[in-house]
Amino acid sequence: MTQTDLINVQHLSKHFKDHSALKDLSFSIKAGEIFGFLGPSGAGKTTTIKILTGQLKQTTGSASVLGVPIEKINEAIYEQIGIVTHNSGLYDKLSVYKNLEIFAKLLGINKSRIDEILKRVGLFEDRNKAAGKLSQGMRQRLVLARAVLHKPKVLFLDEPASGLDPSTQIEIHRLIIELKNNGTAIFLTTHNMEEADKLCDHLALLNDGKIVETGTPRELRLNHNKKKRYKILLKNNEEVTLSQSMETTQKINWWMTSNELVTIHSCEPTLETVFLEVTGRKLI
Ligand SMILES: Nc1ncnc2c1ncn2[C@@H]1O[C@H](COP(=O)(O)OP(=O)(O)O)[C@@H](O)[C@H]1O
Ligand SMILES: [Mg+2]
Repeated sequence: MTQTDLINVQHLSKHFKDHSALKDLSFSIKAGEIFGFLGPSGAGKTTTIKILTGQLKQTTGSASVLGVPIEKINEAIYEQIGIVTHNSGLYDKLSVYKNLEIFAKLLGINKSRIDEILKRVGLFEDRNKAAGKLSQGMRQRLVLARAVLHKPKVLFLDEPASGLDPSTQIEIHRLIIELKNNGTAIFLTTHNMEEADKLCDHLALLNDGKIVETGTPRELRLNHNKKKRYKILLKNNEEVTLSQSMETTQKINWWMTSNELVTIHSCEPTLETVFLEVTGRKLI
């Protein structure tokens, strides 16, 4: 573990009775880094977050958050971390503002921060509405606002934009990037390859409780770009996709010299294709 690792995980495993849910996970996350866990439903993403936030005990292995071993996680650590999960309970009968105020009081946060974060997530106008009356997208923004109210050094996000409309997704992504730029270490789980590609500095592909591949999104895409292909648009409006070969090179050469070629793009695999190649299964 280096000085700058805010999350460090070594050989972590979890068994539920005879079911092995997590198998020998190791990774670390630094300040200002978004680390993504990309995997389908049941891969073990939520279990990992539960263990790292002290809600569930690992079977073997070790981990630390902000230098504190997870067995010793207590209230003091919660003052420095934020968690967004799907059971992040809001008080439905209380207003948007009150939901944040309770939390602010608990953590000794100045009330001016409540207005600031409400404006940032676009809920200031709705501050007096009961949380139970919010749309799903507004609810998720409130959960996120509450998780970052105290400017945590470490943030755990369990599928934060899942099931939301595209404009709310974009808003949430913007906020996540802003937090990263302010130095927060972010552990994000997702089954959405576009989200992983767009947000994450480093990714681990998680399948059946096991990390099967790690790297930056670009590294993962390029390392699995064995069958190089090119998409070509010709002057006569014909669009062709060709695999790399001597014949393709000759064809491209000919189209270029005869001024027939309008556009040419290399076709990189998506993270979905990478996942399929490594695991033999889809991300959903
Ligand atoms: N409390 C539990 N008891 C027994 N099995 C569980 C429990 N929680 C999760 N699991 C199992 O562990 C595996 C991983 O679950 P989970 O971490 O929720 O996956 P994900 O969040 O990636 O969809 C699944 O097979 C799930 O059924
Ligand atoms: Mg989950």
